[in-house]
Amino acid sequence: MKYKTLDDVELQGKRVLIRLDMNVPVKEGRVMSTARIDMSLPTIRKASEAGAKVMLISHLGRPAEGQYAKRYSLNLVAGILSDALGQHVPLIDDYLSEHPRLENGQVVLFENIRFNRGELENMESLSRQYASLCDVFVMDAFGAAHRVHASTYGVGLFANEVCAGPLLVAEIEALSRVFEDPKRPMLAIVGGSKVSTKMMLLDSLMKRVDTFIPGGGIANTFLVASGHDVGHSIHEAGLVEFSSSLIQSARNLGKNILLPDDVVVADRLAADAAAAVKPVSEIKPGDMVLDIGPMSCKKYRNAINASQTIVWNGPLGVFEYAAFSQGTRDIGQAIRDAGGYSVAGGGETLAAIEQNDLADGISCISTGGGAFLEFLENGSLPVLTMLEQSARRSGLNRDHRILRD
Ligand code: 3PG
Repeated sequence: MKYKTLDDVELQGKRVLIRLDMNVPVKEGRVMSTARIDMSLPTIRKASEAGAKVMLISHLGRPAEGQYAKRYSLNLVAGILSDALGQHVPLIDDYLSEHPRLENGQVVLFENIRFNRGELENMESLSRQYASLCDVFVMDAFGAAHRVHASTYGVGLFANEVCAGPLLVAEIEALSRVFEDPKRPMLAIVGGSKVSTKMMLLDSLMKRVDTFIPGGGIANTFLVASGHDVGHSIHEAGLVEFSSSLIQSARNLGKNILLPDDVVVADRLAADAAAAVKPVSEIKPGDMVLDIGPMSCKKYRNAINASQTIVWNGPLGVFEYAAFSQGTRDIGQAIRDAGGYSVAGGGETLAAIEQNDLADGISCISTGGGAFLEFLENGSLPVLTMLEQSARRSGLNRDHRILRD
């Protein structure tokens, strides 16, 4: 693959627009994990120390497009960046109407790009506006590299100079190892909240792995497909049939899908709700499944220990609340302690890793959630195609191999 990296471009005095993934989990006005910010800091420092005028852009959450909403503001992120970089990083919201004037080395953050109409549809006029802000566009948001949006893709078609950031390059290299030639047996755990988005990627993921463990709402959907009642737990009623077909095709291919034998339930999703452990056969209509139980943990731990490659994307329960955090902690610790090569990614997974101090034993931590799964599905991402096109346009002839030899 051929594309430019940050080392290929002149930064001194240039207006450099960097697309990052600062989509951090926020709960009750607090950033639950700064991992995505922390992992972006080397890129920001590199550009600033090289004397660039640094403009950062990111999305946060999924606000109604074209409308400002305080809860999706990047103001908390601006504060964290200011502390980490040792310089005031102002949050600028009118950057499209008035191009900001920056000193060399200065860093500013633009307000949530999903407040701009046309962002999600990759509108050409908005992409051109982003491009006109900068001399160099740096795509370093691996977590959003599966999105064909104006700030991830469109801007790259019109900016003067375009390159991949170091974090994006490093993540692609690490994931290529799992995509190209994983050691077997290979196991994937996919849980978390973006249930339908992730489920649509399971068909091809399942073909790659030997064992698959669904978590959270995905596991509940599989439980329904296997004939269990899941009470009023989160699940995708419209994807039950799809789950049945996945179970059937896994069987035909000789793959294992492991489902929970026991779960932790409560009558509502709240930190103070009374939790009870019960076998899946005893889930009642008033129950909400909020974690896996101890028997399931043991079964999953054994499968993890028997695997040479482990992919982890999404928590197993509502780990933010103590009563429902044990399953995610146990499985995270099992992955950390296992001998196999492990890759973990996604916003919630990063928060679970941070909360349980698991980072040291995991071979590769990715900032991407959906991007991570989509890369494992296709071995490429739309943004990589855009970067290659830009490189061709600018006549780059050096071979930037990003897949491991
Ligand atoms: C993520 O959290 O997976 C990325 O930031 C992408 O977010 P999105 O699914 O809202 O586009």
